[in-house]
Amino acid sequence: MANPLLNVVDLNVFHGEAQALWDISFQIQAGEVFAIIGSNGAGKSTILKTLAGLLRPSAGRVEFLGSRIDGRSAARIVDLGLALVPEGRGLFSGLTVAENLELGAFTKRARPLMKQTMEEMAATFQIIRIRSDQLAGKMSGGEQQMLAIAKALMSKPRLLMLDEPSLGLAPLVVKTVFEIIATLKQQGVTILLVEQNIHQALRIADHACVIKTGRITLVGTGKELLSDPEIHKAYMGSLR
Ligand SMILES: Nc1ncnc2c1ncn2[C@@H]1O[C@H](COP(=O)(O)OP(=O)(O)OP(=O)(O)O)[C@@H](O)[C@H]1O
Ligand SMILES: [Mg+2]
Repeated sequence: MANPLLNVVDLNVFHGEAQALWDISFQIQAGEVFAIIGSNGAGKSTILKTLAGLLRPSAGRVEFLGSRIDGRSAARIVDLGLALVPEGRGLFSGLTVAENLELGAFTKRARPLMKQTMEEMAATFQIIRIRSDQLAGKMSGGEQQMLAIAKALMSKPRLLMLDEPSLGLAPLVVKTVFEIIATLKQQGVTILLVEQNIHQALRIADHACVIKTGRITLVGTGKELLSDPEIHKAYMGSLR
């Protein structure tokens, strides 16, 4: 198999005294959608925050494009091409759509390409075409989620990390969010997707893992996990 884009090896992470992750290992290949699924408090966001450089692992390592990135600053990690759309979306509600997008293009790599990337975003996201002067804070939850994804894409990421992009959205809007993820995948964007919307996440994922109280309990292709009886028993009944 080709060298992975992201290689996570035996990651252990604490929040203060409390250990949140135990020996987390997984690989992501360029061009794929990799999903991390699990219930509330399992440790999904902790994984993304650690990859983004917002938390330091106590043990283990993270390699991105063959180089270690654990221990680097969050700003440097965005520069290298990892972008996180966090829980809560991280938008500036008092700024317009266009201003939020400009702020997304702050990296050295992205800044010179800003105008062109903005046009690409307008082509992919209808909301950006028709609402570029609207204040982000005045938009609906679904529109804000689209904007948050577009803002992250403005940094020209090599890996886009999405933390529960469908959370709190109405079913029809959830569908639109997953359609956007499918479009980005088609465009060749590599995506790490954290979701509690397990059925839809596994349908779109090339590979996925299940995390339970800080440990990986299952890994496989999206298809394999979709038909796994344990997953059905544990999650699909209640969380679909
Ligand atoms: N800043 C923090 N300080 C202390 N404990 C934390 C902190 N953030 C998370 N935790 C704990 O770490 C564990 C993992 O939390 P995390 O937010 O990673 O879970 P999650 O899978 O993202 O959950 P959710 O689906 O609710 O977003 C939980 O037990 C949580 O209470
Ligand atoms: Mg979370």
